[in-house]
Amino acid sequence: MADRPPDPSLEESTNKWMVAGLVIMGLMVLAFPLYRFTEPANRDAARATHVESLATQGEAIFQLNCTACHGVAGEGGIGPALNSQQFLTAATDEQIGLLIAVGVPGTQMNAYSLDFGGPLTSEQIDAVVTFLRSLEPNAPDVPDWRNPGGAAGG
Ligand code: HEC
Repeated sequence: MADRPPDPSLEESTNKWMVAGLVIMGLMVLAFPLYRFTEPANRDAARATHVESLATQGEAIFQLNCTACHGVAGEGGIGPALNSQQFLTAATDEQIGLLIAVGVPGTQMNAYSLDFGGPLTSEQIDAVVTFLRSLEPNAPDVPDWRNPGGAAGG
């Protein structure tokens, strides 16, 4: 059996592909740290956008369900002021969510969770909590938030 004659054009083409492969691998190795560097910023931006849209959703739910007692801006009325710096500092998201979900038995504050006979899903309650939390940076001082109208105003 005779050896196949060497095919210089085949060899050249193989070498070209090998070089191309090495170049591509090199580019990927270089690109990875760049990805690592920009990715957390992308993730933060995505998270901020998500929180913002959740707050917008929560505001709509708040306007429909809560303003009659808690005021259009959460300034309070029949119910406590919820835009109070002191309230928002004192209460965690979990506590606020629970208050909305379960309500305050024996008061006008009904349970809002579907689980307790209310109209809202837990996602909608989360959205309302996110909305209330979004008020915190600009929340006015209302130390007596449970009596927003003062003793006389009730
Ligand atoms: C019919 C009136 C009414 C409506 C509507 C209402 N609330 Fe209330 N809410 C109250 C009252 C009254 C209280 C105070 C209960 C008490 O005496 O502790 C209260 C308490 C709260 C508290 C606890 C505040 C604190 O200081 O502990 C939160 C949070 C709250 N409401 C959120 C909401 C949200 C969110 C909605 C809408 C989904 C809503 N409420 C709808 C009347 C209302």
